[in-house]
Amino acid sequence: MKNLLNGLKSSINRRSFMRKGLTAAGAATLGAGLLTHSSSALGQEGPEEHSGRLTKGDAAILRFLAAAEILETDFWVQYNELGGIQDSEVPGGSGNAAYTAALAVLDEDMAQYIHDNTEDEFTHQNFINAYLASKGADTVNLEQFRTVPGSSATGSSGKLRLTNLMQLTLDTSWWTRYRSRTKNPDLGDTFPQAIPTLAVGQHTAIPRTDADLNDPNFLQAIANTAAFHFPTIEQGGNSLYPSLAQRVTHVEVLRVVLSIGPTETAHFQTWHDKAGNQTNLIMPEPCPFLSRKLPVCSIIRPTETKGAAKGALNFLTAMGLFIGQSPEFFAFLRDLAEDADEARRGRR
Ligand SMILES: [Fe+2]
Ligand SMILES: [Fe+2]
Repeated sequence: MKNLLNGLKSSINRRSFMRKGLTAAGAATLGAGLLTHSSSALGQEGPEEHSGRLTKGDAAILRFLAAAEILETDFWVQYNELGGIQDSEVPGGSGNAAYTAALAVLDEDMAQYIHDNTEDEFTHQNFINAYLASKGADTVNLEQFRTVPGSSATGSSGKLRLTNLMQLTLDTSWWTRYRSRTKNPDLGDTFPQAIPTLAVGQHTAIPRTDADLNDPNFLQAIANTAAFHFPTIEQGGNSLYPSLAQRVTHVEVLRVVLSIGPTETAHFQTWHDKAGNQTNLIMPEPCPFLSRKLPVCSIIRPTETKGAAKGALNFLTAMGLFIGQSPEFFAFLRDLAEDADEARRGRR
């Protein structure tokens, strides 16, 4: 909590610093190593990020998405090292047999799904950054924030991480949200938790050390936490892309966003099935959309565009995914989110 508050405070300081337009040297110090400047764009736009041939807003939206995908990749890699399939497509780690078996209790294909979801996230971050670079725009690199110790259980690569899977607090209200025929978060409605115990306290979704493997009941609880973390995360991506797409300017950037977003939906639907198959109600119920005067419609929800990037960042932060990260990390992510939320359609 202290870290989070420090991060927020420091991010506010950084924003006011940037906004006041103090020296470019000062801003460059803050941003050093975070944004990779492309040579073609250098020197054209002052101390803030370079957009190259993209509009400022499109570049900002893509940069926030690149950061989100880098973070997604980081925690999916942790799952794959311990509970997925380690191969040339998703290298790293050597598997943890007991954790993999506990996940398989939920579905025997869990290891394959974890592998495939992890590979997808790799391709998302790689593509978005490569696309930004191809347009002469700055890309995102979070490597300097790879400071969080991860699992030391058998199977983990032991490398430092960007994200923390060992102190999660999960908002599982997506489960009731997608089952409601009368409510939509964009119309101000709220939803009860599916698993109230995961919404309080801190829960590890991976074995932290080999000591976590000793009690089969505890290990199963860890695997169950993971099984609810998967859809909790992917439903976030499933809303984030359509939310941000509404403020994209160029059709090709829209195509990028509209083509990646639904793969997050595919992930969500797969994990939703694993978490929700007790009742077999795994497809979205129709709900009110735009106005309660219009007929109900089966849709992704929420898709409100205002503040969508900051909302996503707050959601991930509240989940505990960044516990242990530095104030500079929170400041940088908040800056990317604010820039993305300032993007407007059709304005350069
Ligand atoms: Fe993704
Ligand atoms: Fe994803």
